[in-house]
Amino acid sequence: MKILLFGKSGMLGSCLYENLSEQGHSVFGFTSSECDLMDTKKMKILFDELKPDFVLNCAAYTAVDDAEKNVQLAMDINGNALGGIADLCKISKAVLIHFSTDYVFDGHKKTWKESDVPCPINVYGESKLLGEKLISEHMKKFYIIRTSWLFGENGKNFVDTMAALGKEKEEVSVVNDQFGSPTYTKDLAEKVCKFFVNKKPVLEYGIYHITNSGTTNWSDFAAHIFKTLFLETKVKGITTEAFNRPAKRPKYSTLKSTKFNFGMRPWRKAVKDYLRKYFIIAPY
Ligand SMILES: NC(=O)c1ccc[n+]([C@@H]2O[C@H](COP(=O)([O-])OP(=O)(O)OC[C@H]3O[C@@H](n4cnc5c(N)ncnc54)[C@H](OP(=O)(O)O)[C@@H]3O)[C@@H](O)[C@H]2O)c1
Repeated sequence: MKILLFGKSGMLGSCLYENLSEQGHSVFGFTSSECDLMDTKKMKILFDELKPDFVLNCAAYTAVDDAEKNVQLAMDINGNALGGIADLCKISKAVLIHFSTDYVFDGHKKTWKESDVPCPINVYGESKLLGEKLISEHMKKFYIIRTSWLFGENGKNFVDTMAALGKEKEEVSVVNDQFGSPTYTKDLAEKVCKFFVNKKPVLEYGIYHITNSGTTNWSDFAAHIFKTLFLETKVKGITTEAFNRPAKRPKYSTLKSTKFNFGMRPWRKAVKDYLRKYFIIAPY
């Protein structure tokens, strides 16, 4: 089975590239310098030459705060480019697997299911929602997988940031009034492989929510990281208002999966597993 993967150097893309290659699939992965999502000519050549069965788009403009000032760039990479990719998938009869975010929701209620109406409150969320909309308007054979609070190798993420801060500081201030589900790229990548068997898509096309199970806030997330690393760093919970950022964040963005039971493990176990890279810790 031939897979075309964009975002090969990113946190999720690198993990999926490795996972799918290990399973013996022919995965053709691209970084932004090898193929920019907005380079329509190059994209067409790639599709014509490779004739993929599946296209996985892990590429995105993910700088949530910077997106507030780089509006057009975020809209183009996360939004407009997806119309073109969907057209190319349709012509080459490829199935598209695209990743989206909990930030398409405004956070006014505790959990969000696939059928809830999105209403983003920042530019990043708006740009990702535009991508979702263009895919669903341009093609039928797609999976949009919304996920949240990613951590894993090869990317800037909260777990590594806290692990580094915890070694330097006695106390860190972390927001305690935003709630969501941390998700390990390795766990997500494993479930993505459930979407196809022997070139055949096995789940109904459409939108899916996949995160590690359980909900937390950033402050408790940080405390769990310190505890797992046996660091005595204290966590001071602060409000979103006190931690002034350019982009608004949803208060509650826990994604509920109502279409399929992916059997994702609790986020605490996933964090513990990821942190093993820092040292050998006792089995749980
Ligand atoms: N991170 C999170 O917490 C989170 C939460 C929810 C959903 N998501 C979604 O999950 C997916 C993966 O996120 P991630 O955190 O793994 O991303 P990431 O680590 O920031 O990686 C993004 C990737 O996109 C590539 N890219 C950026 N602009 C591009 C362009 N114009 N053309 C081609 N490639 C381009 C980058 O390539 P280069 O490095 O080569 O420039 C990089 O490989 C995204 O769709 C994101 O929206 C992420």
